Amino acid sequence: MAERELSLSDNRADRYRELAAEIASVVAGETSRTARLATTASLLVAAFGDRFFWCGFYEVDPLKPAELVVGPYQGTLGCLRIPFGKGVCGACATERETIIVPDVHAFPGHIACDSRSNSEIVVPVFDQAGALIAVLDVDSTAFDAFDDVDARGLEAVCRAMMG
Ligand code: SME
Repeated sequence: MAERELSLSDNRADRYRELAAEIASVVAGETSRTARLATTASLLVAAFGDRFFWCGFYEVDPLKPAELVVGPYQGTLGCLRIPFGKGVCGACATERETIIVPDVHAFPGHIACDSRSNSEIVVPVFDQAGALIAVLDVDSTAFDAFDDVDARGLEAVCRAMMG
């Protein structure tokens, strides 16, 4: 396969917009959900690797619908399963809304997979029918690393990923 040249803007909002378009084009017509999620995790880290310490998906387990199970990710070892309502990912799955946590140590019930992570953002991922299928979890070693630009940008990336 030809190597894809990914040249993205310095401006973060523009970079998310370009990335969403790139992801939509790379996964167009793909029937495998795993392929879509893995490709997105890879391209997100290619674009924002300097800010993202851990980046990946926890998927709703079809056999245990109130539990998340780790999906495609880039980073250090993540925990395998997270019940709905537990930690930031579990809270996002329950609330179905993006959550920004400036200091994970102050978040009640936060699950520490890697003690170097200090802030995070978690975005819900919906299928075409509006059902929650996963959450996108991005962690940083910096405190207060994420804001509304990341929230809107990552939400757009997830929509582009699902087609
Ligand atoms: N931080 C997450 C747990 C998953 S990892 O950080 C990879 C949470 O509390 O939901």
